[in-house]
Amino acid sequence: MKNFWKKIKKPILALAPMAGYTTSSFRQICKYHGADVVYSELASATALSFQGKRTLELLEFERSEQPFVVQLFGNDPKYFSSAAEFVSEKIRPDGIDINMGCPAKKVFSSGSGAALMNKPEVAREIIKETLRGTNLPVSIKIRAKVGKMTAYKFIKKLNDLPIAAIMVHGRSLKQGFAGEINYEQIKKVMNLVDIPVLANGGINSPEDARRMLQRTGADGIGIARGALTKPWLFSQTKEFLKTGEYQEFELEEIKKASLVHAEMAYKSMGKHGIIQMRKYLLWYFRGFENAKEIRKELVQVESMGDIKRVLKGI
Ligand SMILES: Cc1cc2nc3c(=O)[nH]c(=O)nc-3n(C[C@H](O)[C@H](O)[C@H](O)COP(=O)(O)O)c2cc1C
Repeated sequence: MKNFWKKIKKPILALAPMAGYTTSSFRQICKYHGADVVYSELASATALSFQGKRTLELLEFERSEQPFVVQLFGNDPKYFSSAAEFVSEKIRPDGIDINMGCPAKKVFSSGSGAALMNKPEVAREIIKETLRGTNLPVSIKIRAKVGKMTAYKFIKKLNDLPIAAIMVHGRSLKQGFAGEINYEQIKKVMNLVDIPVLANGGINSPEDARRMLQRTGADGIGIARGALTKPWLFSQTKEFLKTGEYQEFELEEIKKASLVHAEMAYKSMGKHGIIQMRKYLLWYFRGFENAKEIRKELVQVESMGDIKRVLKGI
C-alpha cells in the first residue's frame, strides 16, 4: 500500500473538507498557496456503491491537487467496500477518509457523520469494509466529543485497526461550529496513537495555527473556514512557523490571487467554473469598503472579463 501520510513533512497543513466549497478549483488554489494535503467534500458511500455518476463527477480532480483525499459518509458498512473500490478505480485519489464528525441534521439523523461516534461497533465495520475495498490509506475525521463519547475513548476502541491518519475537530457535537477548542482531547488522541493526528477548529490566522500545534502537540492542522477568506493562510502559516513573521496580503495581492483562482476554475470547468467562483469572490472581498455594491456585481459575473472588470473597480 502506498501511504502518502508516511512521507508528508510535518507539521502537515491540510485543507479540511467543506461541502459545497472544497471543489477542485478551491483545492487547487489552496495547494498553490501551500496546503500539503486537500480533502474533497463529503460524498455518499451509498450513492457511490451504486456507481452514482453525479457523485463521482463531484470527486474529479487535477494532478496539481495531490495528495488528494476523498471523504465518504454513510451509515451502513455494506456500502463502503464497493464505494471505496469504485472511487479507487475511477477517481484514483491518494487516500480515502471517513466522515465521523458531521452534525448536519440530514447526515446525523440517518446515523452517519458524528452519529458514528456513538456507535463504535458500526464505525469499526465501516472502516474494515472500506479497507477491504481499497489499497489506499484510510483516515477518519472525528469530533472532540459526541454525547458522552470523547475522541480519546472512541479512538481507544478502534486503535487496533490500520487507520492511516485522524483529523480531530476540537469541538463537541453540541458546540457545532463555534466555541472553545478542546485542546486537551486532541492531545490525548495524539498521545494514544502513532499515526498522524491533525488538529482542526478555529484556525483563522498563523497565530491560531501555532497555538493549536503548541497546545495539542499534533502532527498537523486542518483548516476549513479560515481558508475560505484566505487560501494563502497555508503559506503564511509556513512562513510564520519558520521565521516568526509573515506577510499580510493587501488588496492588490488579494485581487491577483482571486484571478489566479478564477483562471484555475475556468480551466477546469469553463463557464460553470466562473459561476462557481462567485461564492469564493464574496468570501475574498468580505468587509472591504463599498463591499455591498461589489457583492451585487460579484454575484453576477459570467466570464473572466467580468471578473477583471469588477476587480478593477474595487
Ligand atoms: C460549509 C461547511 C461545510 C463542511 N463540510 C464538511 C464535510 O463535508 N466533511 C467534514 O468532515 N467536515 C465538514 N465541515 C467541517 C469542517 O471540515 C471543519 O471541521 C469545521 O468547519 C471546523 O474547522 P474551522 O473552524 O477551521 O472551520 C464543514 C464545515 C463548513 C463550515
